[in-house]
Formats: sequence, C-alpha cells, structure tokens
Amino acid sequence: MDQNHQGNNALQPHVLIFPIPFQGPVNCALKLAELLCLSGIDVTFLNTDHIHRPLLRHTQVLSRFSRYPNFRFQTIPDGVEHEKPVSRDGFMEVMSAVDAVSKPVFREMMISGSLSRNSERPVTVMIPDACFSFAVDVAIETSTPVVCFETISPCCLWTCCLNLPTLIQAGDIPFKENDLDQMVKSVPGTEHILRRRDLASFCRSDNISTPVIELIMKEARAIPRAQGLILNTFQDLDALILTHMQTFCPNIYPIGPLHSLYKARLTASSLPETTFSNSVWKEDGTCLSWLDKHPPKTVVYVSIGSLATMTIEQLLEVWHGVVNSGKPFLWVRRPGSIIGGFDDSRVPSELLERTKEMGCIVDWAPQEEVLAHQAIGAFLTHSGWNSTIESIMEGVPMICWPCFADQQVNSRFVGEVWKMGVDMKDSCDRLIIEKAVRDVMEMSREMFTESANSWANLAKKSITETGSSSMNLDHLIDDIKAMSS
Ligand code: UDX
Repeated sequence: MDQNHQGNNALQPHVLIFPIPFQGPVNCALKLAELLCLSGIDVTFLNTDHIHRPLLRHTQVLSRFSRYPNFRFQTIPDGVEHEKPVSRDGFMEVMSAVDAVSKPVFREMMISGSLSRNSERPVTVMIPDACFSFAVDVAIETSTPVVCFETISPCCLWTCCLNLPTLIQAGDIPFKENDLDQMVKSVPGTEHILRRRDLASFCRSDNISTPVIELIMKEARAIPRAQGLILNTFQDLDALILTHMQTFCPNIYPIGPLHSLYKARLTASSLPETTFSNSVWKEDGTCLSWLDKHPPKTVVYVSIGSLATMTIEQLLEVWHGVVNSGKPFLWVRRPGSIIGGFDDSRVPSELLERTKEMGCIVDWAPQEEVLAHQAIGAFLTHSGWNSTIESIMEGVPMICWPCFADQQVNSRFVGEVWKMGVDMKDSCDRLIIEKAVRDVMEMSREMFTESANSWANLAKKSITETGSSSMNLDHLIDDIKAMSS
C-alpha cells in the first residue's frame, strides 16, 4: 500500500466494482480493481454468484488478490443455476436474471449499508459496468458518486449506444436486409465510415421493441448521469470518437490498453512477481511451447472469445479456409462454442490429418501471451473488444469475422479506420477465408504490419509514466479520492 493510503477510516476511499457477469468484463474489472488497490484505495469486488463459482477454483487469481488487505470479493445471488459457459444466446437470459434477482438485492444492500467493509467504511464511489443502469439509479438514490466502466469498444458505445435514439429518430434503424450497404449519416463523426451492416448486431432487427434495445437505451440514459466514464482505449486510437463522446459525458478516463497498463504498474510495484492472468477459465499453456517451434510471424491464431458461437457448417468453412491457406494455426475451440456440439464424424478425414500436421487446438489459451508470441502473424478473431485491443497492443494484424454485439463496428474500424486487417463481415466461405489469411500474411503483409506496428507503438507510449492512459489512471485515482472526502 502506498503512502497515499489514509489512516483515517472516515476518509478512506472505498470503491465498489460491479461488473456484468461474463468472462471478458470480469477479467477487465479485476485488472482495474488491482490497479486501484495498488494506489491504496479499498476495493469491494461484487460478483454475481454464477460467474464467481469458477473463479473460486482459480487459485492463482485468489492468491494474488489475497495479497491486498484492502481488497475483498463479495457475491450477490443472480438466479442463474447452470455453470456451463454462457454463450451469446445466454446473454439476455443472464441479464434478465440479474435484473430480476440481483437488482433488488443490490438496492437493499446499498441502502442498508451492508456492502460496506464495515460500518465506518461506507462505499464512497461506485464503479458499475455501464450496462448495469440500475446501479447508477441506486448510486443516485443513495447519493453515492458513480463512475461507469464500459468494456465494449468506444466506437460501438458512441455509434450504437449513446446514439441509439438518434439512429432510431433518423430512421437508420430498424432497416431491411436489402438496405445493409446504405451509409449511416446520422451519427456525428462516422458519417463516412459506417454502413448499416457495420452497426452493432442488436441494430439488425426489424423491430426496435426488443429486450436488448431496451437494455441499451437504459444504458445510454444512465451513462451521462454518472460522474465519469472509464474506457479501455487510448487517446490516439479513438481521438475523434472521444471528442464527440465528451458532448455526452465530459469526464472520460481512457486507460487502455488496460491489460498492459496493469502489467506495467504491477511490474513497477514492490510486490513479488506473480502471474497476470485473471481468466475465469483454466488456460492451456502447452500451446506456447507449440508456438516456440515456429518461425516469427508464421502462425495464424484463431479464437472467437468467450461468448460467440458458430454452427458446424461455419466451423468447417473456417477450418477448410485456414488449412487451405497452408499456414500453421493455433485454434481455441471453447467447449460450448459449436452450436449443437462438435461432431467428429462430419469432419473429412483429410482435414483431420492436415490439422495434425499443421495445427494446435486447445479449449482455452493464455491469449495475451499468445498474441505477444513472435510466431503469431495474424489473428482470425470475432472482433470482441478485448481481443481487438490486445491485438493492437502487440501489433498483430487481424482477419475479422464478427459475430454479435459491438463486433460488427469493431471489425469495420479495424479494416477502414485503423487499416490493420480485413473485415470478412457477413461471409463465411472457405475461399474468402483462405484469401483473407493469404492477404494478411503474404500479399498485403507489409502494409498491414506497418499500420499495426505504428498503432502498437502509440499503445505502448500511452502506458508509459507520462503517457495518456497512465495519466488518465492517475486522474481517476485522484478523482476517486476527491469524491470520497
Ligand atoms: C464480450 C463480447 O462478446 C465482446 O463483443 C465485447 O467487446 C466484450 O464482451 P468476448 O466475446 O469474450 O467479450 O470477447 P473479447 O472482448 O475479445 O474478450 C475475450 C477475452 O478472453 C480476452 O481478454 C482474451 O484474452 C480472453 N481469452 C480468449 C483468453 O484468455 N483465452 C482464450 O482462449 C480466448
């Protein structure tokens, strides 16, 4: 704990972090929690039951956090019984369960003060995921300062969340499938970038009265009511978007790439060395020694994150495409990610044979280490925001196959704005995939590598002591202390 830690309980800043209960957001929120602990702030990390259960088996994470006397986990019921990994289709099911079960319990806990570390240390600042608009309501009701944390991409947050009412009013949504290539002119800053097909997946509906649109509308209304907004990006990457966003929420803290800022601060601290992983699921590190056997920039890394799914037909197209490109590949096949389950008998024996020769398949990988490995030449990704910013940090060009949520917007920005890969949106064809892999790894390799390297350099600069993300984190810490006094 540093010297800023105040002895007086009444003034001790005590932050409540409350992430939405999914692998990616929890992982990010744990990093933020540890950064705040390092600066002497008390942190209570509130997990809903079903996501906390697998974390309890992750002894490395638990022992790392046990080093902080100013940190504690607390759980809240969520009514989600199953422990199987939640997929894309389960997202709203979990969010609805949280709304029905956790929301009233959370309000009661905050009003009664039972969430505090003890009666002298009430929660002084709340940091909920921006998706939990009810937490912003409770913060306002209990006069607790609140700073929202958003783990999706700023480009999607701006275009499809904060501007959702604008999109609806302008008639950009709902839209028909044959209007997919029409440009979206109503959102300031992205008039020449986004087509309707590049909007978040929840915008692709002929009906705007869906539960997910209702959830996002609530989020759009909640964010400007908070005292601030924490984003996992860096100033140079999203400068234009951040300027526009400040018209909605003036106080923005871009502190990304969070995973790298976190490593930098932890390494610089006087704490003994430790692992950095906060993964809720067990990582298979054997793929790193497999990567060691390959020359630099020769392997394609394939992963669709923690929630996206694919059909067996899509799996076979991607599989053929990657194998036919002739590049060795490391593929994360998360259990539960194939709709209807994986059926070996539908896979041609030749594909299985070639996979043995040139592929490595694991259930879950240490992704940050994989992307930092010199053997990786490209990332075939679903364009989840964490995966995207991890790839940007390591200067790895991307082949984007977006599935849902913010991924459609992210893949467009990767291809059109940051020019560090190709966007295969809305196609899943073995020939297109093979061509995209060859394009990124051979034909246009120089061009993609050049822009990937320049973004990586800016990302690295942002987390140095005087870099923008580092200074924004310091502002956040100062502001939390000021809000607590
Ligand atoms: C979800 C949404 O799907 C995504 O669109 C949104 O931007 C964030 O929330 P997820 O699908 O899990 O996230 O994707 P992503 O944001 O890319 O996060 C995946 C995380 O899991 C990354 O931090 C990645 O490093 C980690 N991961 C992935 C592993 O640790 N091992 C793996 O094998 C695969």
